[in-house]
Amino acid sequence: MLKRYLDRQELILPELELVEDKSVLLIIGGGIAAYKSLELIRELGRQGVACRCVLTKAGSEFVTPLSVSALCGEKVFQDLFDLTDESEMGHIELSRSTDLVVVCPATADLLAKAANGHANDLASTALLATDKRVMMVPTMNVRMWDHPATQRNIAQLREDGVHVMKPDVGPMACGEFGPGRLPEVDAIVTDILGLLHDASNGPLKGRTAVVTAGPTREPLDPVRYISNHSSGKQGYAIAYALSRLGADVTLVTGPTALTPPKGVTTVKIETAEEMLQAVNKTLPADVFVSVAAVADWRPANRSDRKIKAKAGEDKLGALELVENPDILKTVSGKRRKRPTLVVGFAAETNDVERHAREKLARKGCDWIVANDVSGDVMGGGDNQIALISRTSLERWPRMGKSAVAIKLAQRIAQELNRPMEERDAAE
Ligand code: C5P
Repeated sequence: MLKRYLDRQELILPELELVEDKSVLLIIGGGIAAYKSLELIRELGRQGVACRCVLTKAGSEFVTPLSVSALCGEKVFQDLFDLTDESEMGHIELSRSTDLVVVCPATADLLAKAANGHANDLASTALLATDKRVMMVPTMNVRMWDHPATQRNIAQLREDGVHVMKPDVGPMACGEFGPGRLPEVDAIVTDILGLLHDASNGPLKGRTAVVTAGPTREPLDPVRYISNHSSGKQGYAIAYALSRLGADVTLVTGPTALTPPKGVTTVKIETAEEMLQAVNKTLPADVFVSVAAVADWRPANRSDRKIKAKAGEDKLGALELVENPDILKTVSGKRRKRPTLVVGFAAETNDVERHAREKLARKGCDWIVANDVSGDVMGGGDNQIALISRTSLERWPRMGKSAVAIKLAQRIAQELNRPMEERDAAE
């Protein structure tokens, strides 16, 4: 189901379901903000999380089961006493065959029911029957929010281990002003992912990682630039995989069409020089993974106005280029702030392994991930790589870019967690 859903999205990270196949039971309550649950389903799908949905009776006054089902790609559950639903999937199973239960929007009524253990409809029954963590995203009129009964219910829910988000403050649909607005979908997704992926015990816990991704753009004038076809998919997937293993990750990225992975600090740049500056700012770090397709050259002069193409006026034909800084080489050569592990990529079209070995020596990095880009690798979903160090060579089978990312992140974790003496001996 998730794969089908992801295939429908335009700007998704590649095959994130391989990173972790997680799902959420989303209970949609009846509030004016219910329409935002549709955006939530969409955004979760982009981050690789599948949704199964329960729509309360009040919720169906605001969004239709058809629109919810079109977005989550599954039928919507509405009725506790629906014989077909119960025979296909009972309410107990519904509440347990998921990784997290999210109530969004959570109305004052749903909060009250959950706090007091009511079970008189599908939503409240699922909340009582679940053995999974529950997250509530309250939204209501400011007076209802401030009411001691609501505050009492929230305190009770938190004591019971429910994650209750704070509503935003601002103008409300009813014309009043104050706390009670639904938080931004982005903030809701961040909290959901945080609960889904408890990375606090991952093998890269306490480690910092810097990943570069995407192309750089080297401007000629305000409208033209030199660049390449890099999609950023491999670099984004690596940043995501490292963070899922517990690392504190900064992704320095050139322009791409991808949604930045949640839980990763993303720094957007355009040129190679900006990329180097941004990388320098993030050091020291434990590991640097240089995936970006940095333009090797940039125009010597950047014109402040659009260069005229008309013959005789300007000379677009004779382009003078100067070399860009080599970011990987610069980071590898650092004395004080050199990361413990520096990983470069080598995109080659022929003699892949020989060129990769030369590159390893020339750049001074510890590992080179070599890939053959003679086929459809650039911009495509698959990759076939060889992992090369000074003393070893591993050929990996062709796999999705996410699978490459996970495997590489795991190898990085292994390497960083090896005892120091062992690592020195391998040099
Ligand atoms: O020399 P080449 O571009 O083939 O090297 C590829 C590796 O070097 C990649 O890891 C890429 O991110 C990095 N690189 C860099 N700065 C450059 C050129 C390449 O960091 N100016």
